Amino acid sequence: MAERENFGSKLGATLAAAGSAVGLGNIWRFPVETGQNGGAAYIIIYIACIILLGIPIMSSEFLIGRATHCNTAGAYNKLAPGTQWKWVGRLGVLSGFLIYCYYSVVAGWTLAYSLLAICNQFADKGPDDYVRVFQDFASNPFLPVVCMAAFFITTHLVVVRGVKQGIEKFSKLMMPALFIITVILVFCSLNLPGAGKGVEFLLKPDFSKITTSTVLNAMGQAFFSLSLGLGCLCTYASYFNRDTNLMKTTVSVCTIDTLVALMAGFIIFPAVFNVGMKLGPDDVGPSLIFITLPNVFHQAFAGAPALGYIFSVMFYILLMLAALTSTISIHEVVNAYVSEEFHIRRSRSALIVTLVCMFIGVCCALSFGVLSDFTIFGMTLFDLFDYIASNILLPIGGMLIGVFTGWRLDRKLCYDQLTNGGTIRAPYFPLLRFCLRYVIPLAIGAILFNQFGFA
Ligand code: PFF
Repeated sequence: MAERENFGSKLGATLAAAGSAVGLGNIWRFPVETGQNGGAAYIIIYIACIILLGIPIMSSEFLIGRATHCNTAGAYNKLAPGTQWKWVGRLGVLSGFLIYCYYSVVAGWTLAYSLLAICNQFADKGPDDYVRVFQDFASNPFLPVVCMAAFFITTHLVVVRGVKQGIEKFSKLMMPALFIITVILVFCSLNLPGAGKGVEFLLKPDFSKITTSTVLNAMGQAFFSLSLGLGCLCTYASYFNRDTNLMKTTVSVCTIDTLVALMAGFIIFPAVFNVGMKLGPDDVGPSLIFITLPNVFHQAFAGAPALGYIFSVMFYILLMLAALTSTISIHEVVNAYVSEEFHIRRSRSALIVTLVCMFIGVCCALSFGVLSDFTIFGMTLFDLFDYIASNILLPIGGMLIGVFTGWRLDRKLCYDQLTNGGTIRAPYFPLLRFCLRYVIPLAIGAILFNQFGFA
């Protein structure tokens, strides 16, 4: 078996992990949740979740991965041989597999909408036309599948080139591009007339909208957005070098991810307020991004159609890039597992993962058309995968990762990993352990209780 690769630089490692975190979750889910849960008040709670929950779990995933230099299932086997902890890793691989299948469907839509935006298909349309365009597209048996397949193939081509030449190189190119596009879009949006109202909404907390479910929502969002709970960052960390500062990388990734989510809010809300719209309960997920926003952008830039055109094109390209850096990381979780646990050459295991996920992805894509009547527990395949992965497997995975690091893993091993063998200081260590041992099991236990209807 070929020698295991590592990332070539600390910057490359950080950007790859940030690429995994920054995705569709930041650009559509975060602004919607913020819009529906009291604006700035929600943001404050979200940031608290990142600090109390996100940072400890991410640093746990990093230290488990770097200590073992193994795929996520192999990592638990190495640290707790002969125990059932290996199931935490296997559960993660299963979550990654499910997420990859349905996430790629939406990723494919971002490709289609980038092309529609480039062909100026959002001009001269009335509000109902945007609904029709999206419904016609999503229920078409052919187009979404082709776009999704293009996404799978691109992801495959990056992963198969390897950790350094593929994932790292791509992230180093794409993440700065993504950041620049985001900043330009924020700038354009803030300059729209009436943008101040959108900004005020994002900065002025309204605590009256905060309920227990808001807090639980913010926790779930922090989780998905940071790619936690399925060993994705554990897999990436298995390619980190000895001298990578794990806590510094954790804080950088959390900061980049939160900044992009906030900036997405500063892109969407000034434009939404500019046209005097309010986000309703239906403006969630696909509907916001693929129906409401083309309409908002079109109206907001009615006086300057050329600018509106550029804005729309850049926005959908931004989404596409964000989705791509995330699908690459999800593919890698499953690929590293298949390759290392079944002793298959990396290029071959990558092909197996791509083909199997593509096959199931087609069924998810068709959930919006010909397979819309095929339901399990009353959900289409797409909704079922999303539900099982995001609402059940990720929180359980995150909680187990926290419990494993806090209770099972040798304290000295954790300390050595976080301090690189005592060469860097870690004054936060007792606090981190407290979060892992008590805060995380209790907080995530509450999310799960809530989701199963007990809270
Ligand atoms: N963090 C990604 C997003 O915000 O869209 C989604 C994601 C990527 C979840 C990778 C899980 C994962 F392993």
